[in-house]
Amino acid sequence: MPAKSNRSAEPTKSDELTYKSYLDLDTLLRAQKPVSAAHDEMMFVILHQTYELWFKLMLFELDRIQGVLSARTVADADLRLLSAGLSRSVNIMELLIRQLAIMETMTPLDFLDFRHVFRSASGFQSLQFRELEVRLGLRPEERVGYDGKSFENFLPDEDRAALHRVMKQPALIDQVGAWLARTPFVEMGGFSFWKSYRKAVVEMIGHDRAAILRNRHMTAAAREMELGKLHNMQAQFDLLFGEGEEELPWRFPKKALQAALFINLYRDQPALQVPFRVLSSLMDLDETMALWRYRHALMAQRMLGTKMGSGGSTGHEYLAATASKHRIFRDLFALSTFLIPRSKLPKLPAQVADRMAFKYWDEKTAKRSISSRTGSGKLAG
Ligand code: HEM
Repeated sequence: MPAKSNRSAEPTKSDELTYKSYLDLDTLLRAQKPVSAAHDEMMFVILHQTYELWFKLMLFELDRIQGVLSARTVADADLRLLSAGLSRSVNIMELLIRQLAIMETMTPLDFLDFRHVFRSASGFQSLQFRELEVRLGLRPEERVGYDGKSFENFLPDEDRAALHRVMKQPALIDQVGAWLARTPFVEMGGFSFWKSYRKAVVEMIGHDRAAILRNRHMTAAAREMELGKLHNMQAQFDLLFGEGEEELPWRFPKKALQAALFINLYRDQPALQVPFRVLSSLMDLDETMALWRYRHALMAQRMLGTKMGSGGSTGHEYLAATASKHRIFRDLFALSTFLIPRSKLPKLPAQVADRMAFKYWDEKTAKRSISSRTGSGKLAG
């Protein structure tokens, strides 16, 4: 904590920065105003306020993340910022999940001592939470129905207008899609990842089918079941390899999906390690948000049973539905369907692997080189 202001060389007494003034504690600590005499209301207020502060920080991180992704090309150094911002946000979400346990130190009966004071006010009206959802990429048509009306109807006019402005901005998921679609290496020189991957998949499925048919120790029922599983898998791959983007069940454009798969399959390549971490962090964020939603739904059930929420929803039932439906980065999870074992993975051509390796030698003096972890480096000179 800085002890003094560095705004002027010789600070006057009134300029002096203290712990209290730096953090504006007078404002912060005056903002807790429980309206009832119930002891637990102070905890209820503070807990909600801390949530809003953490939401504020997540939105602040998102500013930088989305700023980085709005560039026409994303520099390697900026990619690290992206990964750092996402990782911080995931840690915040984990903290937010744990914080609900503090709420549960209040009994449902004690909650009833003051629940009436906030009438129809509800976390449902948290503008920052809505902004977070919208900026990550949750679309209105994907939302769980709420009393037959759009969730926006429950916001005050000025908040609704603010949210509409946010909705007009590009969402993170679409920015990530555009960034993925620009991934080099997927098509390079004569190499086409998609063609070689498809060939490997066809061979793998053919091999698996032959192995099932050859297996004389299998009962007819077991064989039928295994062939059925293979048939399902084939159907999923057919969809993946199908032409045209319209009928695809994924939100990412096809090129982005292919690149995300490439990054997942070849993530051991040095150049793909940070992109892989970014994709993992996006999944972590999606997962921790879903966990928070479900954890909050359970807490609401403990407090309210099957009573309606103060905002007018069905309470637990509505909240539990949002945990499974309000997912944003589903495509990244779905990619696991299409991973194939490393042993079946097409080997990358030397010139592609070479471009993805880190090199630590000076081409001019070229005394020696240190091979990268892929082993693709060469001894020069
Ligand atoms: C006793 C504690 C709590 C109860 C019983 C409770 C209950 C509910 C209920 C029933 C809803 C659905 C909307 C409605 O009908 O009101 C809701 C929504 C919400 N609550 Fe809470 N809540 C509690 C604490 C919290 C806390 C500490 C936060 C932190 C910010 C929070 C944030 C939210 C948010 C963001 C929503 C909107 C969720 C969505 O629509 O997806 N709640 N809450």
